Amino acid sequence: MDRNLALDFVRATEAAAISSAYWMGKGNEKAADQAAVEAMRKSFSIIDMDGTIVIGEGERDEAPMLFIGEKVGTGRNTKLDIAVDPLEGTTITARGDPNAMSVFAAAPSGCLLNAPDTYMDKIAVGPECVGTVDLDASVEENLKAVAEKLDKPIDEVTVIILDRDRHKEMIEKIRKCGSRIKLIRDGDIAGALAPAIEDSGVDILMGIGGAPEGVIAAVALKCLGGEIQGRLNFRNEEEKARARKMGITDFDKKLAMNELVKSDEAMFAATGVTDGTILKGVQFLSGGAKTHSIVMRAKTKTVRFIEARHKFEHFPDY
Ligand code: FBP
Repeated sequence: MDRNLALDFVRATEAAAISSAYWMGKGNEKAADQAAVEAMRKSFSIIDMDGTIVIGEGERDEAPMLFIGEKVGTGRNTKLDIAVDPLEGTTITARGDPNAMSVFAAAPSGCLLNAPDTYMDKIAVGPECVGTVDLDASVEENLKAVAEKLDKPIDEVTVIILDRDRHKEMIEKIRKCGSRIKLIRDGDIAGALAPAIEDSGVDILMGIGGAPEGVIAAVALKCLGGEIQGRLNFRNEEEKARARKMGITDFDKKLAMNELVKSDEAMFAATGVTDGTILKGVQFLSGGAKTHSIVMRAKTKTVRFIEARHKFEHFPDY
C-alpha cells in the first residue's frame, strides 16, 4: 500500500471530526453523524485509491453514503478494503462527553473481515501482554495472566469495559478479583486501543461491543503491536442471515488478529472529536480549528501524532 496515502486518510478523518464537532453537546446524534459521514465521503472522492467499503454505515438500502460495497476513491492505485466509523461515539458527541473520534482503517482488498453489524465478545491487550490472554479463559485467569505479565498485583490491573447491563456479571467477577474498572459510556475502539497506549492507565479491554468496531480496533492494535480476540455475538436470526450473506459460515469461531485483519499492509487513522484518552478533541479557533490525529502503519509499526491547524477559508483542504 502506498505509504503516502496515510496523509490522505488523516485528511478524511480530520474533515469528519471538524464537521461533527460543530454538533458537540447539541443533543443531536443524527446531525453529528451525518456531518461526519458527508465530510468523510467528500474527502474520499479525491484520494487515489480503488477502495471498497467493507465496514461502514450499513447496508446500501439503509445508508446513502459509505454503505457496505460502495466504491470510494478515484479508482486509481491499489485495491483496498476500507473500514470507517466517521463518528465513533454519536451519543458521546451529542452529550459533549469524552472519547468521540472519527476513525478510518484500510488494508489490501480481501484482508479485512467483513463483519456484520452485530455484537462481538472482545478481549484486547497491549504489546506486553500479547499471547497471555484468551477469550475462552475465565475473567480471573485472564486478569491473573495480565497481572503476572505486567509484574503488578491483580488489584492494580485496570479493565476498561462498556457500561452496559449485559456486563453486570462480568463486572462482578472483575471486582471479585479486586481489579479496577474504568466504565465507559460508549466508544470501545478507543477502549481497545487504550491498553496499547503508554500512560493510558488501562491494561485490558473486556466485554461485548460492536463487531465492526472490533475489526477497526484490530487494525489499530496490529499497528500498535497489541492484540484483540473476538467472537461474533448475534442478537437474533436476522443478524445471522445477514452474516451468512456476507460469507460467514462459522458463527462460533474465535477470531484471532490474523482473521480480523489478514495483512500487515494495513493502516489506521483517527482524529479526536471530543477530548479522549488518546486524542484531543477539535478546538475551534478564530476562523479555523485545531485537530489532533493519530496515523499508523502495521508494516512498520510507525505511530504518528499529527496536530493540524485548519483555516476555514480553505477547509476542507482538498
Ligand atoms: P456509535 O458511534 O455508533 O454510537 O457506537 C458507539 C459504541 O459505543 C461503540 O463504540 C460500541 O462498539 C457500540 O456502540 C456498543 O453498542 P451498544 O451501544 O449497543 O452497546
